[in-house]
Amino acid sequence: MERRASHPSSPKWPGGDARRFIALELPSPLPPAYNPSFLDLALTEGSVKRIKAIYPGSFDPPTNGHLDLIERGSKIFDELVVAILRNPEKNPLFSVADRRKMLEAMTSGFDNVSVDTFDGLTVDYALRVEARAILRGIRAISDYEYELQMALMNRKLQPGLETVFMMPAEKYSYLSSRLVREVAQLGGSIECLVPDLVEQKLREKIDVAHKFANRQPSAGKSKLKKKKL
Ligand code: PNS
Repeated sequence: MERRASHPSSPKWPGGDARRFIALELPSPLPPAYNPSFLDLALTEGSVKRIKAIYPGSFDPPTNGHLDLIERGSKIFDELVVAILRNPEKNPLFSVADRRKMLEAMTSGFDNVSVDTFDGLTVDYALRVEARAILRGIRAISDYEYELQMALMNRKLQPGLETVFMMPAEKYSYLSSRLVREVAQLGGSIECLVPDLVEQKLREKIDVAHKFANRQPSAGKSKLKKKKL
């Protein structure tokens, strides 16, 4: 089957011809049940389409589990945007600017990964940046129900956008930003759970919070005394 010859001017994939071979070995046209838009796009022959994905989240703070997923995502997508939600309703430990800086430093080694911020609906943001997939991590069965709900709602809102789930390494399956914050705030070790720079930022944040907390009672006492006098 010399179908390759019929597309002599096809541009080359950056990583070689592996994807063209996959495309040629699948039946064409694919039966509808096996023809979701994500695959459809990946298998386009003749013109090369790049697959861009977003990895949305709170990242407060970013952890080694996030980094593990970013690395996995960077291997299967042509472009990956780590998208930090600007959520005015939440009371985050780190500002969006701090989270952005940490994520930029953490991902500086990946050529195809960038960091951005967004508000509003994730699907609207994905559309704005012309992404075709949303990357989300599933650590354990407990994540599944929420993630499935979110993926299906996002599909209802934007049927052309696919959610792709990936699993981080088992060693991070218990890891969450909330637990990292809690352990760090209570003085526990977060070594190996977050990159060094995040650990340092967390310690700085917590030291400032402790200093502030230790100053408060004495300030209160002096006010009381003044009132009594
Ligand atoms: O890291 P998180 O907190 O689990 O990320 C959750 C996030 C940001 C992906 C989710 O809350 C989200 O997509 N928020 C944007 C608003 C939105 O699109 N809501 C509808 C989701 S179905």
